Amino acid sequence: MPFADHSDALERAYRDLSANYRGMDVDIYEICKEKRQTEPVMKGDFMRWLKVPTHADVRQKFETFAVFKYEDNRKVLADAKTFTSGFIRDGLGSFFGGDGLIILAMDGEEHKKTRSLLQPVFMPANVNKFKAEMDRCAREDFLNHIVDDKKANLMNFGLYYPVRIIYQLMGFPQEATGKFYDYAAMGLKILAGQKLDPAEAEKAREEANAVSGGLLDLVVDQVAQRRAEGSDNNDLISQLVRAAHEGEQLTDHEIATFLRSLVAAGGETTSRTFSSTMTLLLQRPELLDRARNERSLIPAIINEAIRFEPVATVKVRQAAVDTEIGGVKIPAGSMVQCIVASANRDEAVMERPDEFDPDRKTPMSFTFGFGPHMCIGQFIAKLELEAAINAVFDLLPNIRLDPDKPAPEIKGGHLRGAGDVYVIWD
Ligand code: HEM
Repeated sequence: MPFADHSDALERAYRDLSANYRGMDVDIYEICKEKRQTEPVMKGDFMRWLKVPTHADVRQKFETFAVFKYEDNRKVLADAKTFTSGFIRDGLGSFFGGDGLIILAMDGEEHKKTRSLLQPVFMPANVNKFKAEMDRCAREDFLNHIVDDKKANLMNFGLYYPVRIIYQLMGFPQEATGKFYDYAAMGLKILAGQKLDPAEAEKAREEANAVSGGLLDLVVDQVAQRRAEGSDNNDLISQLVRAAHEGEQLTDHEIATFLRSLVAAGGETTSRTFSSTMTLLLQRPELLDRARNERSLIPAIINEAIRFEPVATVKVRQAAVDTEIGGVKIPAGSMVQCIVASANRDEAVMERPDEFDPDRKTPMSFTFGFGPHMCIGQFIAKLELEAAINAVFDLLPNIRLDPDKPAPEIKGGHLRGAGDVYVIWD
């Protein structure tokens, strides 16, 4: 094990999460291509067919539809009045104990007010202040330690680095580093709570609730301490304690429950995206070489990797009223699966959708979502990925796939990524 950092609990939780959301090993993009042509709005549960759970499983008494085209995905995600997210409180939210600030599960004014309070902290003007720390962390805490090894599984960096970054952004004390990974493992266990089988889901919910309560206690302490100090620091916790919008502020409990969800939302998404981005580059030595020598291309490579291989293939909404998508009637209460992996490759809005081409000019992808719930952490994720890839290029010269190890494969019906990325360098 080449790095100082290691956590069996985190590695196990990450692998279990991947297995839970992997489903059938099929070419999801080929299936989606056919659906866009033959049944762009499908009546039925596409994700269940792929044998993977989603938030939609909480409302099985309602019909489920799946939407494959770019334009239909855009309409559903943009119209949060007709297509709501409140059901997430009973689904994923219930694995977090169901209380507190679960922004993903908020609708209307409640969501708008909460998002306004949180948003400034996540905008580039603030996030860019953390860039130097991301560069330092990738190099000094990780890659410098393995330079002489000349080979590694890149995920021994990619799994741990986003977790460290998220805790540093939050302002957790440095001496708690070892515990970060245990907390992150707890977050992943909660995410893995959703199961296809209702009996299994119930059991997982009990376990997740226990873990979730424990995680909350740990975070609450940090928030209360920062409030008591009257801290004017720049970390996320201190900023959220000070945040105010139209005279309203967040309570300690709200901040703590929000931060607890970030432990899950902010780490593994970035890890998985790092695994896919590096895999796509390593599979294309010419592009890899170009990126190494033309660093200004890296943001476009990240954007294209995010389009081409979204970390989550689906976003789910519930119809609040009787409505219609692409001529198909959607009764009130129906669950709507927005298949973003399909929308991101819709030939109706882009040329050569199955080609990985960072020079392309296409409409934005939906990997970070769209509309009011669009990922609040996207600037953090992109900056983090850019810092990681630059550090890899600077410190691991002529990096390439290890010919003696299995080549990385990007897999998964709901959550996608490569499990291991074995590389060598000069
Ligand atoms: C590559 C990495 C990431 C991806 C692909 C991703 C993806 C997403 C998506 C698709 C949504 C919208 C969900 C929906 O519409 O139902 C979302 C929301 C959110 N993300 Fe991310 N995310 C990433 C990284 C992060 C990071 C680093 C953070 C925090 C530091 C974060 C925090 C959040 C939060 C708080 C929300 C809820 C926003 C709301 O409901 O208004 N994400 N993310």
